[in-house]
Amino acid sequence: MDDGGKVGVAVLGTGRMGAAMARNLAAAEHDVRVWNRTRERAEPLRDAGVTVAATPAEAAEGAACVLTMLTDAEAIEGALDGEDGALAALGPEGLVLQMGTVGVEDVGRLGELVEGAGALFVDAPVLGTKQPAEEGKLIVLASGPAGAREGTAPAFEAVGRRTIWLGDAGSGTRLKLVAQNWVMTVIEGLAETIALARALDVDPAKFLDAIDGGPLGPAYAQIKGKMMIDGEFPPSFTLKGARKDVRLVLDAARSADLELALAPAILERFERAIELGHGDEDMAACIAATQAPATI
Ligand SMILES: NC(=O)c1ccc[n+]([C@@H]2O[C@H](COP(=O)([O-])OP(=O)(O)OC[C@H]3O[C@@H](n4cnc5c(N)ncnc54)[C@H](OP(=O)(O)O)[C@@H]3O)[C@@H](O)[C@H]2O)c1
Repeated sequence: MDDGGKVGVAVLGTGRMGAAMARNLAAAEHDVRVWNRTRERAEPLRDAGVTVAATPAEAAEGAACVLTMLTDAEAIEGALDGEDGALAALGPEGLVLQMGTVGVEDVGRLGELVEGAGALFVDAPVLGTKQPAEEGKLIVLASGPAGAREGTAPAFEAVGRRTIWLGDAGSGTRLKLVAQNWVMTVIEGLAETIALARALDVDPAKFLDAIDGGPLGPAYAQIKGKMMIDGEFPPSFTLKGARKDVRLVLDAARSADLELALAPAILERFERAIELGHGDEDMAACIAATQAPATI
């Protein structure tokens, strides 16, 4: 760790979440270097005092920790491994903080890759979407070796409002998949409820109003429900990303010999909405599979 608790952090992946996290790390005065496959997308971060590197290895050179916020395990492996990969440049005491959403098996493989290179692996997916990421208010589901905990604090405090420490690496991902199952059932349930309201000639805004503020009316339903009613879906989390997560949930359930009834149905609905052209929109666009958005 550098003087004053400031650390060198390499952020790999500057998509919706990673860019916001890099900005908050820089705002906390850490020395932030980013790498993104599509370099132009990382360039605007220079305004925040962030250095844009050409390769993951260049980003990781001299850093205390490497934070990955990439789509899936394949992308993470690609950024960590190989000649230009971050592990080639990260020192022996270095930390890898895997913060994206991956599968149960993926996390085991990633841990072996990192530990095989002599670094410490912390599995730390997050709860919260684009806005909490921008506000530095994510909830970090951290898991990994006790010896890694202290070194993670500067980064986790900059990106999150709360860190929940769980057990061995992989516990964070398991809790994240449990939480994703909940979110996906809520979003699909909300979509079908709004479609039902319309089919029954009920103004869906009246439904949202009726549940607002009570135990059945979480803020999430208000935010996503308004998007569904307006038929406008600027992405916080894309429908393609949500499909990935439903698949991860299903894989995890299968490997635990648990049969889920809702997740396969949700996957089918998400697939249909993606076929209709909504894959890069917010996952609230899943309503398109049940009913084309219409203004009422
Ligand atoms: N958005 C949310 O609400 C949210 C919340 C919690 C967790 N997450 C998780 O956080 C992760 C990132 O999500 P996001 O919403 O920030 O996604 P995003 O905006 O789509 O960004 C994805 C990032 O991954 C990179 N990438 C994708 N495939 C790659 C590959 N094969 N090789 C190298 N880089 C690759 C992209 O690079 P390019 O710019 O070159 O495409 C981009 O930097 C995902 O695992 C997601 O499930 C998202």
